[in-house]
Amino acid sequence: MSWMLKRALALDLGTDSIKLAELSLRNNEFEISILHKIPNPQGLFFPEPDYEVLAKTLQHMVEEYGLKNRKIISTVWGNNVITRHVEMPQMPEKELKKAVRWEAKKNIPVSVSDMLVEFVSLENRVKENKQHLLVTAVSTELVYRFFEVFKKAGLRLAVLDLKPLALWRLFSAGNKFVESNREGGNSGETLVVADIGALSTHILFVAGKSVKYTRVLPVGGWGITEEIQQTLGIDAQAASVLKHQQGLIKVPEELLKELLLSIEFYHSKVGDSKVSKMILTGGESNLIGLPETLSSELKLPVESVRFNDSVGGIDPAFSIVLGLALRRLMDNV
Ligand SMILES: Nc1ncnc2c1ncn2[C@@H]1O[C@H](COP(=O)(O)OP(=O)(O)OP(=O)(O)O)[C@@H](O)[C@H]1O
Ligand SMILES: [Mg+2]
Repeated sequence: MSWMLKRALALDLGTDSIKLAELSLRNNEFEISILHKIPNPQGLFFPEPDYEVLAKTLQHMVEEYGLKNRKIISTVWGNNVITRHVEMPQMPEKELKKAVRWEAKKNIPVSVSDMLVEFVSLENRVKENKQHLLVTAVSTELVYRFFEVFKKAGLRLAVLDLKPLALWRLFSAGNKFVESNREGGNSGETLVVADIGALSTHILFVAGKSVKYTRVLPVGGWGITEEIQQTLGIDAQAASVLKHQQGLIKVPEELLKELLLSIEFYHSKVGDSKVSKMILTGGESNLIGLPETLSSELKLPVESVRFNDSVGGIDPAFSIVLGLALRRLMDNV
């Protein structure tokens, strides 16, 4: 048996709130030992991140939960990672690294000279001499800043992972954590998971155990609040209160358009199976009426994530942080 971690600590730095989770493995069962959300101090990440305040906020959290010197898995804040799906011929690892960097230079709209370029292999089609890679590029300076912030807070950043891969861990077939993937996951159909946060939406197409396609859409829950604000001519605060109390008024045009385009793209260019349903995660999936409205607009069954009874009623805003902890426990990243 391969060596496996017994517990994993994960942190999701969201634009709206920071989420912390610790998962343990006991007698082959997962146990959530910590699940905590810290609303961000005003302006922590937006429009520019305040690294001092971030370090202090994390430091308090470390003290409160006794986490000093623990290793942690996290992701980069917001949508600061550029990801691209790339097809490459099979080649030795060393050549592949060079080729990927070359490919990134061609495909990424900003200079990659001061960026870290990494990739994960999603699928190997040996017969066709092809492999499907997910290539990511992130500013070296940003990564360096993150390591510093975690260090200041008393934590050791073990790995910066990708949000879609965290979602994938949660939704790949056979995972016992969520109920929602039970029906579709194994039957050769594709699930599309949409994590609707505050500023962005991460979508993941997963068929069985495989990641098929991922995208980041530049619109999230704050866009929904803005829509309410404009429609009713009220301020942001009032619009937010109304949104929480009464639910959906209107899905922003941009979000609908981007979701539709992504599904169309998947069907025409990527998928060998049809999308059977959409599952919503992220804080915004709490919004009353959202699944129903999206379902009728997208002509697709849409539901909010349902966590397994054994782990209880978890706020879907914790989906990514739980997926990160699972990645560290199960994949040893
Ligand atoms: N009960 C609720 N009803 C309506 N909206 C809600 C509810 N709970 C949370 N939200 C909304 O969810 C959003 C925050 O979601 P989440 O915590 O997933 O975002 P984030 O991870 O901090 O942001 P991002 O992923 O964009 O960086 C906010 O727009 C908030 O208004
Ligand atoms: Mg988020």
